[in-house]
Amino acid sequence: MAHIPHHQPETESSGPPIRFLVTAGPTWEPIDAVRFLGNRSSGRMGGELAGAVARLGHPVTLLLGPGTIQPEPHPRLEVHRFQSAADLDRELRDRWPDHDLLVMAAAVADYRPARPVPGGKIRRTSSELSLELEAVPDLLAGLAGIDHPGTRVGFALEPRADLPTSARAKLERKSLHAIVANPLETMESDRIEGVLATSSTEFVSPPTSSMTKRGFAEWVVPHLITLHRGRTIDRDVR
Ligand code: CTP
Repeated sequence: MAHIPHHQPETESSGPPIRFLVTAGPTWEPIDAVRFLGNRSSGRMGGELAGAVARLGHPVTLLLGPGTIQPEPHPRLEVHRFQSAADLDRELRDRWPDHDLLVMAAAVADYRPARPVPGGKIRRTSSELSLELEAVPDLLAGLAGIDHPGTRVGFALEPRADLPTSARAKLERKSLHAIVANPLETMESDRIEGVLATSSTEFVSPPTSSMTKRGFAEWVVPHLITLHRGRTIDRDVR
């Protein structure tokens, strides 16, 4: 993995505020009125990112999935709940135009029941039951098609051995400006071993490899602000 020195990140809020949109937590995909397909995301990393953004003086909208932690309130933090990937897709398309920097930490389903039973309940019988699943669109990749000058940052959860290669591939596939890559073990844990890739060749690592999610958020958010400000300046001078 190439570690290329990065210019110093912002340490305080200088310049105009950046409107952050952060997503966090799992999606719950309905099977019937009482059951869903979900995942183990706790929403903690996204909650810490939103908290770090607000403490640095920037307004932040947090789109938070079901069954997660309740984030610490802050006057600059606005929280909206979603349930399924379809709900999150609607929220994103509605809110992204009014924001500058998106951090997509939500663990969005890749598959969902093709024919959920909305009002009812699937009854038990003695025979086998197969659920047909359909692919969920890639929400983050979909946003790249919207004409918006903002900065889009993804999260990649990968088996440790494939981390750098898969993160680079995702950065390109989803047309992102940066991606935070972290090993699968991060899910449900209080700690994270993340690295930030700002292009397919540039990786920045925090000072210690294993950090609390709060510590990691406080390290990564200033880097994202610097990245966004750099992109804005590049655009303005052209
Ligand atoms: N993501 C998304 N829509 C999906 C799936 C994922 O927007 N349907 C976003 C996630 O929020 C994250 C990034 O894409 O920021 C990477 O998610 P990840 O699950 O690691 O990648 P996938 O594209 O789902 O690929 P795979 O599961 O095969 O690794």
